[in-house]
Amino acid sequence: MNDPITLLNDRFANALATAFGEDYRTTDPILRPAQNPKFGDYQANVAMGLSKKLSQNPRDIATKIIENIDLAGICETPEIAGPGFINLKLANTYLTQILAALAGDPRLGVSTKPNPQTVVVDYSSPNVAKEMHVGHIRSTVIGDAIVRTLEFLGDTVIRQNHIGDWGTQFGMLIEYMLTHDNPDNAHLLDASRLNTLYKASKAEFDSNPDFAEQARQRVVKLQGGETQTLDVWKTLVNSSSAYFQSIYERLGVKLTADDACGESFYNDQLADTVADLEEKDIISESNGAKCAFPKGFTGKDDEPMPLIIQKSDGGFLYATTDLAAVRYRVTDLKAHRVVYVTDSRQKQHFAMFFQTATEAGWLDNGTTLEHVPFGTILGEDKTPFKTRSGDTIRLVDLLDEAEQRATDILTEKQADFDPDQLRQIAKVVGIGAIKYADLASDRVKDYIFSWDRMMATDGNAAPYLQYAHARIQSIFNKANASFDQLDLSPDALPINDPAERALVLKLVQFPEVLHSVADRLEPHHLCAWLYDLATAFNRFFTNCPVLRADNDTQKNARLVLCHATAAGLKLGLSLLGIHAPERM
Ligand code: ARG
Repeated sequence: MNDPITLLNDRFANALATAFGEDYRTTDPILRPAQNPKFGDYQANVAMGLSKKLSQNPRDIATKIIENIDLAGICETPEIAGPGFINLKLANTYLTQILAALAGDPRLGVSTKPNPQTVVVDYSSPNVAKEMHVGHIRSTVIGDAIVRTLEFLGDTVIRQNHIGDWGTQFGMLIEYMLTHDNPDNAHLLDASRLNTLYKASKAEFDSNPDFAEQARQRVVKLQGGETQTLDVWKTLVNSSSAYFQSIYERLGVKLTADDACGESFYNDQLADTVADLEEKDIISESNGAKCAFPKGFTGKDDEPMPLIIQKSDGGFLYATTDLAAVRYRVTDLKAHRVVYVTDSRQKQHFAMFFQTATEAGWLDNGTTLEHVPFGTILGEDKTPFKTRSGDTIRLVDLLDEAEQRATDILTEKQADFDPDQLRQIAKVVGIGAIKYADLASDRVKDYIFSWDRMMATDGNAAPYLQYAHARIQSIFNKANASFDQLDLSPDALPINDPAERALVLKLVQFPEVLHSVADRLEPHHLCAWLYDLATAFNRFFTNCPVLRADNDTQKNARLVLCHATAAGLKLGLSLLGIHAPERM
């Protein structure tokens, strides 16, 4: 990779080895982008940390590093500041070179991972016969951004939609369908019918003991594979899947029907999974139930905390299915990394079965399991997001409103779209705004749902970024220029103005940002970069005339900067699953 951080890290490794011995080659030079341009572009903070170990004053250490580092052609002469910070300013010639390289590269300088992995991403995972709630939407949107980023960096990603399509609740649902519906229940149910079905059957289950008993027997029939029962179950699953798929299509996420691998898929692996755990002495009986007591989990009075694997009546649980899924993903899917995107309230569930899987030796080949938790969406009143009347919010209503609001904004700004164009752009802007709001804040924190904030054309919101992108297209139109006509040779790319410099510096950070998103599974760092990029671009555009540049070379350089910015916005947004329209 040809980005500054990689190159500088490499040069520091050599300098540390020469100055203090080979052992120091792997010492982290702690390189960070400088907070203030006064201190240059990057700062290396390694000297302070080494002081104790080397029993030397940090300024002396910094001096020795500088004496031994080869930064020719990369940086101006480094400066030491304060207790021993090393301030680095990239040479303009170097910046010009990387700008030339990245502007002509469809990947914008981002190389693939040196060791690509097979990664299973378990996300979305809604439940059959229930409406998808906002938590499933967050999982869907965050998971999709993770999938796209990992794929872009070269991983083989296997999407797994762990749909809740099995369990005792199906006894009640099927029994209700058979007693209240036309017995040939082969037709698909629409979303609203599914929604009322769950509530109605639950109400009957709770109030009618005869029905409850029938429902319990229905579970046995389902597990025994009785034909009529299984047919109704399939209708339920197919109806829900069609509804989920309609939402995925509207959201524009990558999930397809082929990615569904729900709980029912593991049904015939459960007994074997339990047997495996028993053989490894991981299971003990507690009140008649088979439980694991994963190390490190204690409840009240330091009692070991059980993870129930099989109930006393023989029934299996959510955790049992997840344990079977680990085995399948490691052994059959050959995953190096398994990532689970859910609400943070499930944290303990994941931690406990991860530990159980570790103790069972299923991860001995080095597979890692990672829970990617996220917080709750809150309303303006800081309680979980609900409608005015206290009902859960229907996703379709949310998406409709987003598109309507986008239409209003677009109509206000520019009148000359034809109705078709307007509808199309409004869709991209409205859906983009909703998705971006889910991605832009640190995912573990709760966030407050605010239409004004997410639709903003002047803040950390998708429309702001989409505007910047569209604006650049119009600059090219006005200049009557196209990218192919631009000169990318370093001589034709003078970078002089501080606003030009700041923009290039942002652009060259793209590789390091993306690789960190992939490591930490935190898409908000990509959002922050996009926001900074658009802001640096707007400042540049205010300070540095493009169409009325001083001369042709300057105009060329500025158009190249415009092009690279647009490419960065478009690519970055696409990795979040958001489109950047050409016009807005
Ligand atoms: N269906 C679950 C729910 O709605 C989410 C499943 C997450 N994935 C998993 N492997 N447990 O809460």
